[in-house]
Amino acid sequence: MSQSLLERVNVFFEDAGCKTDPTGLSKLACEGASVAVKAGAVASALVFGEILTPEDIFRLLNLEQGDIFYDLGSGRGQVVLAAALASKPKKCVGIELMEPRHQAALAAKAHAPEDIQRICEFRCEDVLACRLEDACKVYLCNAAFPRHLNAAFAGALDPQRTPALEALVTCAALPEESLNQARLQLTQVAECSATWATQGAPLFLYKRDGDGSFAARATAIPTNVRYEASRQLSAATQSAGLSHEDERSLLR
Ligand SMILES: C[S@@+](CC[C@H](N)C(=O)[O-])C[C@H]1O[C@@H](n2cnc3c(N)ncnc32)[C@H](O)[C@@H]1O
Repeated sequence: MSQSLLERVNVFFEDAGCKTDPTGLSKLACEGASVAVKAGAVASALVFGEILTPEDIFRLLNLEQGDIFYDLGSGRGQVVLAAALASKPKKCVGIELMEPRHQAALAAKAHAPEDIQRICEFRCEDVLACRLEDACKVYLCNAAFPRHLNAAFAGALDPQRTPALEALVTCAALPEESLNQARLQLTQVAECSATWATQGAPLFLYKRDGDGSFAARATAIPTNVRYEASRQLSAATQSAGLSHEDERSLLR
C-alpha cells in the first residue's frame, strides 16, 4: 500500500531524531508549555492536536502550484511539509509560538529533499503580531481555541494584513461577528480525521468575499461530523460575550 502524506513526512522527523509515536509527540506537546503560559499565552491555544489527513485541507483549499500556503500555529510543521510534498506550492509557511515545536519543524525540514526545503519556511512568531501579507491559502487549527482567541485570529486576517488571502480552512467555526472584519464568508463544511476525533471532525472553508452560496455547496458528510459542525455554527452565531473561562484567561 502506498504511504500517506503524513507517513511520508514522518520519515523526515524520524531521520531528524524526532519521535513520531504517541509518546514522542506527547513529550513534544509538554515541552515549553508552562513557560509559555507564565509568559501570558492562553493555555488552551497551546493544546497539541494534529490533523491526521492533511490532504483533506489541501483539497478544500484547492491548493495549487503558485499558491502561498500558511499554517497559522504550525506545531511541529508536518502540515507545512505535507503541503509542499502534495502540491509544490510557491511557498509553504508555518508560524508557531512554541520554540520546541518550531525547532522540531526546522530539524525535519533539514531532512526533506532539496526541492521541499526550498519552498518551506518556518517562523517562531506570534500569529497575532506577524507579517501575513503574502498568505493566499491559509489553514488554522483552532479546535481548542476559546471564542475570544478565535475572534482575535479572525481579526488578524483582516484585508489590510492579508491582502492576498483567498481561502481559509479552520478546524472550528469562527464567531460570526468576526467574519465581517476579515471579509470572510463560510462556503463549505467538509470532513477530516484528527487526533481529537479520529472518527471524523469538521473542517470549515471560508472565502474572502465569497458569494454566500454555502447551502448549495454543502457536501455529503457523515452524521456525526454534520452534527458537530452544526453545533459549532450555532454557537458561532450566539452572543459575543466572554465566558468565565475566557475572562480568566485574559487576566494576565
Ligand atoms: C492544535 S496545534 C496544530 C498543529 C498543526 N497545525 C496541525 O494542525 O496538525 C495548534 C498550534 O498553534 C500554536 N499557537 C497557538 N497560538 C498561537 C499564536 N498566537 N501564534 C503562533 N502559534 C500559536 C500552538 O502552540 C499549537 O502548536
